[in-house]
Amino acid sequence: VEALKKNPNWKKRKGPVVLVIMDGVGYGKYKEGDAVADSKMNHLDAITAKSPHTKLKAHGKAVGLPSDDDMGNSEVGHNAMGCGRVFNQGAALVSKSIETGAMFQGQAWKEIVENAKKSGGAVHFIGLFSDGNVHSHLDHLKAMIKQAKKEGVKKVRIHTLFDGRDVGETSALEYIDPFEAFLKEQSDGSFDARIASGGGRMWITMDRYGADWSMVERGWAVHVHGEGRQFKNAREAVETYRKEIPGIIDQDLKEFVVAENGPTGTPAPIGAIEDGDSVVYFNFRGDRSLEITAAFEEEKFDKFDRGRRPKVCYAGMMEYDGDAHVPKRYLVSPPSIDKTMGEYLAASGVRTLAISETQKYGHVTYFFNGNRTGKFDEKLEDFVEIKSDVVPFEQRPWMKCADIADQVMEAIPSGKYDFIRLNFPNGDMVGHTGVYQAVVCSMEAMDLQIGRIAKVVEGAGGVLVITADHGNSDDMYEHDKKTGAVSLKPDGTPKAKTSHSLNPVPCIIYDPAGGNEYPHKAGEGDLNEGLGISSIAATCIQLLGFIPPVDYDRSVLKM
Ligand code: 3PG
Ligand code: CO
Repeated sequence: VEALKKNPNWKKRKGPVVLVIMDGVGYGKYKEGDAVADSKMNHLDAITAKSPHTKLKAHGKAVGLPSDDDMGNSEVGHNAMGCGRVFNQGAALVSKSIETGAMFQGQAWKEIVENAKKSGGAVHFIGLFSDGNVHSHLDHLKAMIKQAKKEGVKKVRIHTLFDGRDVGETSALEYIDPFEAFLKEQSDGSFDARIASGGGRMWITMDRYGADWSMVERGWAVHVHGEGRQFKNAREAVETYRKEIPGIIDQDLKEFVVAENGPTGTPAPIGAIEDGDSVVYFNFRGDRSLEITAAFEEEKFDKFDRGRRPKVCYAGMMEYDGDAHVPKRYLVSPPSIDKTMGEYLAASGVRTLAISETQKYGHVTYFFNGNRTGKFDEKLEDFVEIKSDVVPFEQRPWMKCADIADQVMEAIPSGKYDFIRLNFPNGDMVGHTGVYQAVVCSMEAMDLQIGRIAKVVEGAGGVLVITADHGNSDDMYEHDKKTGAVSLKPDGTPKAKTSHSLNPVPCIIYDPAGGNEYPHKAGEGDLNEGLGISSIAATCIQLLGFIPPVDYDRSVLKM
């Protein structure tokens, strides 16, 4: 891309533009369960009161999802903020590709099917087992199973990663039962489709950003080797673990292997992955797909001992990394997100710092840059990762927000950066645990850090843009869809909601020094209304003294 045009009237600020992304922090629709409103956030409240602010849409079509019933998520949210426009995202592209038949005419699918037919082996499907539409959708899986049968595949094995994070926290059986019925319907003398292994998505396989490779190792053991505790079927596994570990939610369920009829009378796994088999990892979202893909694809691999590594034909649902071109084979092309803000800023000589802790590090780098892991310009960009704790986050709800703030507070007055973007994971990572008190604690911890950062921005003559990628902590209880009443557990306490919300998110422009990009007044109504989070890109570009690209979505600043 070309350098951005300078705004000739721009009055340069002394300090940098600091973009704070409060992951999973929206404006709640219901009073009950809105842990954001319920927290003491004196700093954020004070900043909001004295700054122009508005609400931005962060779900559904505003972030490229199929419909406005789809909650936002970090991938599409950071894509939108970083790319300044809305692209049709994975969920929509995969559905379309199945609908038009393009997926099944593609080379990758043909190879998957041909390989299994030639070897007489199985086609394995591994992925997130829900209709959350954040990483995957069961309809995609079902369509592929039907098509495999139609094309003469004889054996299919499914490796289910229970969700409870993008869907109801204990909903696994609601997915298993109808799916087993579907498999039964499909199976006949010449087609044999079964669930073979699985476990909770936060316990096996779906780690991200190298936070905890032991998850992938446990997944590899059950999916590939069929090594793990044995059960008759998935339902039995779920019921057993729920009984043994009271209060356990689906995302944390332990691993299982379905076994029966072993040669020596002892049960044998029904779906270990063998030489000659085909494997489809059916998640379309990349962050939690890259590690298991590396285990299947990489010749040299040192994250854990893979033991026997079957020779398989492997495909991912999408290309997960557009820089490194991973995986080698994929079923659907990802959105071609081009001309990102990061690329423009690098072309314009803007010095940038992107920082978060492990759990969201890739969000402010990889997702923000349109699903590319690399930098646009080594000299202009610094990416900083602070190691996340490897603990259930309800035990440490403050996470690393203070450490992130420390580094940002050093960077702001250093004169080294024009643009600093950071992500505070608290609202999202703790929100996903469903533990209300921990969420309140996480919000208050984050607020302290926002107060510290705001003070340094003031001193340095910078400007602070505070926003979020989607809601989560603002909606911590399940509500009846029709009446809106809080859903209760048998013991009368509210049923926790662990997934994201459909709520709008804040956009606050705290500009103590005052620029001349927009009328500098306090209160609501000073900013353009009714926009989505894709407007954050043009907003930051304006605050940095440039004119946004013409095809970018409108900034919130009234010029
Ligand atoms: C996850 O991957 O943790 C959830 O499915 C979505 O959360 P995120 O979009 O906030 O990362
Ligand atoms: Co989340």
